[in-house]
Amino acid sequence: MSAPAPIPLSQPSITAHEREAVASVMQSTRLSMGPALERFEAKMAEHCGVDHAVGVSSGTAALHCIVRALNLPESGTVITTPYSFVASANVLVYEGLTPQFVDIDPATYNIDPARIEAAITPDTCAILAVDVFGRPAPWPRLREIADAHNLALIADSCEALGASIGGTPIGAWGDAAGFGFYPNKQITTGEGGCITTNDAALAETCRSLRNQGRATRGQMRHVRLGYNYRLSELNAALGAAQLDRLDDILKARACASTRYHEALAPLSNTLRRPSQTLANAKRSWFVYVIELPAPWTRTHRDALCDALQADGIGCAPYFPAIHLQPLYRERFGFREGAFPHCESVAARTLALPFFAEITETQIRRVVDALRTHLPTCAPESNTMPLSTS
Ligand SMILES: Cc1ncc(COP(=O)(O)O)c(C=O)c1O
Repeated sequence: MSAPAPIPLSQPSITAHEREAVASVMQSTRLSMGPALERFEAKMAEHCGVDHAVGVSSGTAALHCIVRALNLPESGTVITTPYSFVASANVLVYEGLTPQFVDIDPATYNIDPARIEAAITPDTCAILAVDVFGRPAPWPRLREIADAHNLALIADSCEALGASIGGTPIGAWGDAAGFGFYPNKQITTGEGGCITTNDAALAETCRSLRNQGRATRGQMRHVRLGYNYRLSELNAALGAAQLDRLDDILKARACASTRYHEALAPLSNTLRRPSQTLANAKRSWFVYVIELPAPWTRTHRDALCDALQADGIGCAPYFPAIHLQPLYRERFGFREGAFPHCESVAARTLALPFFAEITETQIRRVVDALRTHLPTCAPESNTMPLSTS
């Protein structure tokens, strides 16, 4: 009997609706800066409940434009989280700013607001927080801290389209928010991103930055150092079509997470499952990440990851700590032990296959493989009782 097909870690949800939207661009002659981009931006602004949305070529470009548009002081420091995708700190380094990492709350994986004020110095000019894995960062508290210390507040919401706090969508928190639409995200544009904000001047600067620093679209007058961060019409049309289906996609992803939660219940003494509900907030399911308990080390987790992959199950250690990446060690001198909660979580978290169309059979296969490999990869005493995060 042949081996069952591999289960990917992620997979975009693409239907005839998206294929038709992209094909219709191909039948036009407008391939950049046209009506599809305007449609995409209008839908993003509506979904996030903000006045302005600016489509760009990636999530990184969105965050870079925000950081640049805020005109932060040269050699300033920005408080941010070490538990994220590297781009959230890189955009600060692009601008000569110093990331000042603050450890996470191990219960939520988000930056711990209780640690921020102690880290503020006269050089601190902003806070850049991340909605890790689609779980909203503590934006109301971050806003209070930013206002009390006159700091800019930047939202890296690349993983959280569709999440909200107290009914206010992610995308409307912070001075501006950046979204990313790589194919593993809730919706995709192939490659792409978007800035959302209620600040008209900031939005205008971001429009200029994405288009080579032009003063006005279409003219050859360049008033600032800009970039080519434009989103093509093909990408924008794909994104607009995906946004038409956002609610259904989010429901399917939430349903997949519930299925995992139930299927993993018998293993809940051996691993920690992400919580299904949050107080006064809604998560948007980006990935399904389990946490192995403290006796587990990176070596044990990596062995489990290898064993699952050998069985055709896509999985990945999410996230490695940013401050321990070679670039950050070399440039800023970070070493192990700097942010213990982040390092501990980063050594023990594992993302399982997760996408809107994942089937019950596929989830069962993942759970069966976990049941097989957990005992063989586990450290000797792994009986710690666990709860959900
Ligand atoms: C938290 C976070 N920030 C930034 C990015 C960068 O987005 P992109 O890959 O579209 O540049 C990502 C994408 O994976 C992300 O997850």
